[in-house]
Amino acid sequence: MSSLSSSDGNDDRAPAHAVSLIAIDGIPEGGFAEIEAEVDGVAESIVLYREGAQVRAWLNVCPHAGRRLDWAPGQFLKSRDGALVCAAHGASFETGDGVCIAGPCRGERLRAVAVTVRGDAVLLGEA
Ligand code: FES
Repeated sequence: MSSLSSSDGNDDRAPAHAVSLIAIDGIPEGGFAEIEAEVDGVAESIVLYREGAQVRAWLNVCPHAGRRLDWAPGQFLKSRDGALVCAAHGASFETGDGVCIAGPCRGERLRAVAVTVRGDAVLLGEA
């Protein structure tokens, strides 16, 4: 779990009131990280996935039975073909759009969280 900090407003590139979630280097290339942040006023666990300079994020909640996707905080399973695999019952999710492609909730999707990469930081919200 990483800490949550507000922007100090010194970064001209950051949107006003942007919340910095994590440094992009804190997410392994082609891998996942977990952070906690407020989304719509509710404290949530969020899974972040990085591909180069692109980061996608979803709530760390499986649509099958509402369990966390990680087997331990921040420890996610990835299949050989690159899908995010829920540790509870094995549902597999595309890392592009968060759709379940195999397992007990096939066709459902993870709830996306809007994030923006600005410099070295991953910020909560749209650009
Ligand atoms: S809770 Fe994720 S597959 Fe069942």
